[in-house]
Amino acid sequence: MNIAIDGPAGAGKSTVAKLVAKQLGYLYIDTGSMYRALAWAAFAHQVPIDDEKAVYELLMKNRITLQRDGETQRIFWNDQDITDSIRTPQVSQYASVVASYALVRQQMLVLQREMAKGGNVVMDGRDIGTHVLPEADVKIFLTASIRKRAERRLQELLQKGHQTDLASLEAEIAERDKRDMEREVAPLRQAEDAVLIDTSELTIPQVVDEILQICKQLGE
Ligand code: DC
Repeated sequence: MNIAIDGPAGAGKSTVAKLVAKQLGYLYIDTGSMYRALAWAAFAHQVPIDDEKAVYELLMKNRITLQRDGETQRIFWNDQDITDSIRTPQVSQYASVVASYALVRQQMLVLQREMAKGGNVVMDGRDIGTHVLPEADVKIFLTASIRKRAERRLQELLQKGHQTDLASLEAEIAERDKRDMEREVAPLRQAEDAVLIDTSELTIPQVVDEILQICKQLGE
């Protein structure tokens, strides 16, 4: 069984997807980290972020790998472990720019389908239910209010020692939502057959339980 979890930034996708994968003994694949890796590399190698062809070539000439590490996942750019460098607000903004490029998305789709081909994966992103795994057995669309999402990101970033504030995070999230929803290729939207869950007032275990219930109903 394959499970697709989509939704905007900060809706709780990765936390929830990781836990669902753990409960089911499935492989968790965080597709956002792949766009982040490419964005990080463009910055690190001074490839102009607005040059689609150059960014695409950077992706084609290098290797992004996700490696399971206990319950978490590490991401590599060739042999370099960049897991701890891809969660900054700047990489977030760059990631949503590289994610708007058709050529980049086309190649990410190939890589992501390859990763899922063994089955039993929980994959999270923006276009998993609509494009990457349109045949997924279970599709979930997670959302939450912008305020809640910004509060969650703030906690995450503060814990990692980044300095930021709620107002700028809200503005950043709104800007990213807009870019992710309005791009021409594979925009963020709920698949017709996805189940919508608003996580604003739910705890993480509640969301995980709800998804596991849905898996039980739909997977049987
Ligand atoms: O989920 P995240 O914040 O790590 O995602 C980083 C960026 O990548 C975000 O702006 C949306 C984009 N993305 C995408 O377009 N498609 C995906 N499947 C996953 C992420």
